[in-house]
Amino acid sequence: MVDHTPNKPTLTNIMVTELLRTDNEVSTREAINRAVATLQSGEVVALPTETVYGLGADAMDPTAVEKIFAAKERPHFDPLIVHVPHKNAYLDICEVPAEIKHTIVQLVETFWPGPLTILLPKKGIVPDLVTAGLPTVGVRMSDHPVFKKVVKQLGHPIAAPSANRFGGLSPTSADAVLDQLEGAIPLIIDGGACGRGLESTIVRVLPPEAGPKPIIEIVRPGPITEDDLKKWGKVRFAKSNVDVESNAPEAPGQLASHYAPRTPLRVLSDPKDFSPEPGKKYGLLSYRGQSKDGYVDLHEWDEVRVLSPGSGRIAEAGIRFFSAIREMDQLALDELVSEPLPERGVGIAMMDKLRRASA
Ligand code: TXA
Ligand code: MG
Repeated sequence: MVDHTPNKPTLTNIMVTELLRTDNEVSTREAINRAVATLQSGEVVALPTETVYGLGADAMDPTAVEKIFAAKERPHFDPLIVHVPHKNAYLDICEVPAEIKHTIVQLVETFWPGPLTILLPKKGIVPDLVTAGLPTVGVRMSDHPVFKKVVKQLGHPIAAPSANRFGGLSPTSADAVLDQLEGAIPLIIDGGACGRGLESTIVRVLPPEAGPKPIIEIVRPGPITEDDLKKWGKVRFAKSNVDVESNAPEAPGQLASHYAPRTPLRVLSDPKDFSPEPGKKYGLLSYRGQSKDGYVDLHEWDEVRVLSPGSGRIAEAGIRFFSAIREMDQLALDELVSEPLPERGVGIAMMDKLRRASA
């Protein structure tokens, strides 16, 4: 029997979670002021970014950062991304090795503010708690209007992982945050649905190996794609860096099982492999919703969610991805079945997540 009850907080962390809207100039200004005051008082706040909602705390305050780990029930070996208030602010918290400096500047100038996180050696002022004791820190500058104002007004970097319980679906709306963190955090700023819908691409830059081009290693695929990056270096994907035995990231990045809805999920690589069990309810996650793809007519699905109806646009599918899975996860189905998505553009990130969700 599948347990469909939402991940409600445990008794140890019951508090009232306030949700502030940003639907006009006045409410937006009030929400931003409240978010900044809450961060200054050493508390956490869920904030909209252009990728997914983040759970933010003042990155320089270990006591505040600890509350992120507590609210998310996140293990301390999993490091946090730090969001900077302006383009050059990464220089305050990172050491940039001379041999990759030029490339880092190019990436920052090209992709910030935006969904690119860069791993760089950290300076001593970054608390070890933020980086899980690693010598590197992931930095990015968000392009969301509300997030940008909050971090600018705070004048400090904000540590912010995705605002979900550890291992759960990344939230792309304030409601999705509330679902997972109500009672565990004091404040959510509602900035509407996230424009990108998938977490930032994470890269590390390495000096050239052969030839003149530096290596850009994609640690987590996301909205900034291999194609976008290849102008600036030789792009490759990092090998899986997970110790399968302990499921702990050796030099972290991502865990094998992650992004999981409560309902079991599987990717159906070949429609012929589907043999439904009688009496069970199945939901289909479809790319284009077209019969000729071989999935829509395969079964009398109890629910179908289409990521990009018609001819299919991979970026559009990315925007709907987490919200579509979340919707179906709330419908008391026995299993979610996903079509394989085209592995190009953000399709690579979605397939990566689907594989982890089904692990
Ligand atoms: O779009 C995003 O990146 C969102 C928004 C809120 O900014 N944030 C986000 O954070 O996705 P999180 O914590 O859910 O995912 C960050 C990933 C984790 O898998 C973590 O292990 C990895 O980045 N990470 C962070 N710092 C790292 C480091 N120094 N080395 C290797 N991996 C790191
Ligand atoms: Mg996350």
